[in-house]
Amino acid sequence: MRLDKLLANMGCGSRKDVKKLVKQGAVCINGLEADDPGINIDENNDVVTLFGREITYKKYVYLMMNKPAGVLSATEDYGRKTVATDLVGEDFSHYELSPAGRLDIDSEGFLLLTNDGGFIHDIITPSRHVEKVYFCRINGVADESDVEAFAEGITLADGYKCMPAKLEILSKGEYSCTVHVTICEGKFHQVKRMFLARRMQVTYLKRVSIGGVALDESLEPGEYRELTESELSLLK
Ligand code: URA
Repeated sequence: MRLDKLLANMGCGSRKDVKKLVKQGAVCINGLEADDPGINIDENNDVVTLFGREITYKKYVYLMMNKPAGVLSATEDYGRKTVATDLVGEDFSHYELSPAGRLDIDSEGFLLLTNDGGFIHDIITPSRHVEKVYFCRINGVADESDVEAFAEGITLADGYKCMPAKLEILSKGEYSCTVHVTICEGKFHQVKRMFLARRMQVTYLKRVSIGGVALDESLEPGEYRELTESELSLLK
């Protein structure tokens, strides 16, 4: 890979900025000052530094974000806040990340963000059976007949029959309950529409895990971190 491409891809500036930095003598390869921005380097083995700080090449990044309510799971939108534009900081913004499976604007919780298109495809494709678990507060009291209906496959109002899902009732009140719902699909408003089909309403929804990886509860709404190696290997 060309040196200027690596530095630009790693967010060190535009190709033009990077050229200037090289001419300034700010860039070293394996301890020796670089003088040609177009030189080819081995991005996996050569040690590149900018003002003495090592620049590690990463083709793909994978972030776990705790999405807050009120922000769109999108890369950009006119006038509304999006996770990629408004929440991902300068440290990762140059990677042009997209969500692997959206959450509604009023939903919260685990959002995976990456620039690895193949990974996004594998996470969202129902045939891969990657389980997504949602914690929900429900207006209505679910019972065993609902658990069975979810296991059977709920038919939505538009006639679509969902794949079998797991409904676990966590607590019951007089008029409401809390549940965990596990699904492998990601149809628009799917969980909300599954409950509507059972004459109940979701009043709060938070995704708590994807493919066996739990949302890191130390992440405040809007915060993110890179997935660990072991989390990534569970998802791949
Ligand atoms: N199902 C929904 O209804 N909304 C979400 O945000 C995610 C799953």
